[in-house]
Amino acid sequence: MQLKKKLLVGAIVSSLGGLLFGFDTAVISGAEQGLKEFYELDNFAHGFTNSIALMGTIIGALFAFSPAEHLGRKKSLLIIGLFFGLSAIGCAYTDNWYLFLFWRFLGGLGVGASSVIAPMYISEISPSAYRGRLVGLFQFSIVFGILLAFISNYFLKTHMGSDSWRWMLGVEAIPAFTFFGLIFLIPKSPRWLILQKRFEEGLVVLKQLGDDNSQERLETIKASFQQKGEREKLFQKKYFKPIILVFLMATFNQFSGINAIMYYAPRIFETAGIAKDSAFLQAASVGFVNMLFTILAMMFIDKVGRRKLMIIGSIGMILSLVVTTYLLNNPDVGGSFLVVPILFFIASFAFSQGAVIWVFISEVFPNKVRAAGQSFGTFTHWFWAASLTWLFPVVAGLSNGTTYAFGFFALAMVLQLVFAVKFFPETKGKSLEDDI
Ligand code: GLC
Repeated sequence: MQLKKKLLVGAIVSSLGGLLFGFDTAVISGAEQGLKEFYELDNFAHGFTNSIALMGTIIGALFAFSPAEHLGRKKSLLIIGLFFGLSAIGCAYTDNWYLFLFWRFLGGLGVGASSVIAPMYISEISPSAYRGRLVGLFQFSIVFGILLAFISNYFLKTHMGSDSWRWMLGVEAIPAFTFFGLIFLIPKSPRWLILQKRFEEGLVVLKQLGDDNSQERLETIKASFQQKGEREKLFQKKYFKPIILVFLMATFNQFSGINAIMYYAPRIFETAGIAKDSAFLQAASVGFVNMLFTILAMMFIDKVGRRKLMIIGSIGMILSLVVTTYLLNNPDVGGSFLVVPILFFIASFAFSQGAVIWVFISEVFPNKVRAAGQSFGTFTHWFWAASLTWLFPVVAGLSNGTTYAFGFFALAMVLQLVFAVKFFPETKGKSLEDDI
């Protein structure tokens, strides 16, 4: 089957929501010191400023299902692009701390909402044989966005002096408004159109997307809505299984320690006695390895399936976390080797959890409750992301703190392995209308 242009445009453009997600969450690590000085922040206010966007992600994820259902996926993506663009410009221009917090929060709402709507949209336009790869583009974009922020921060810091934080945050306006403009080119989600009873338009889009059995597909989608009412509440007994599955998936995603490692990598390397400059290079290599293994996972996800990737990745993460804990505790054995298990961990994460999470959350819920289910899974992810970002530095600061933290991550990955082997349903190749 040849992939139609409309399908590729839809998947690639909407996945750029992930690039903004990655950029926005990573950019703060370069800007935080400048912000602290400019706004003369004490420790509490500093921590609050750094995490206000994460609070926005939680709220954005929680409520995104509503515009996704009522306005549609495409219009919601347009609004998200606007949020990102305004947030970037607002953060760069303001001199008022309260306004700064407001603009960062708005960007956070964009991140939370984009992680609900973009993967769901891609999942709804994709033929099942390609769905893993196409939704995987979203994770690829996140990782690429993180790397871009990292490089842009480094470059701006060395060239823009004390105002560099404004530039770091402001440059995001370029991808944001580009994203906004490109969204006009994408088709509407056929599944959303059919939910709105706009059957003819739905059929046209299904054809444009290259569905070989568009008429039949229309009927199946229609039927999936028509059995027992069109919209339903998510929280009821019959949806217990997908609810638990996405809850565990999103929880394990963050309990792997990925963001502690991503964002504290330079600090982890420094405490292990690695010089500041090479610490930066090693942290940049984290970004490259992440990208490389995300691509590899995208090549495999529709062939070997989601479950096998999860099993292989869990084993890799357990081993690398154990070795990391050991080396952090015994810097004399070889603190400078720390980069090896850390890169191995990133590779294992990217090859499994990283590539699978957005695909899985976007495909396990039936049509009727997909928007609400996607919001719930994504909310869980951001809730833990925010909590761990707050807790990790506190725990790591205690004596033996890193041992506890990494020990906890390793244990969580053992549980994830059990989950992947015993309970994880394979969704490869299934249609969105099939039961899991
Ligand atoms: C996944 C995680 C996100 C993390 C990223 C790193 O998207 O959900 O929290 O920052 O991977 O690659």
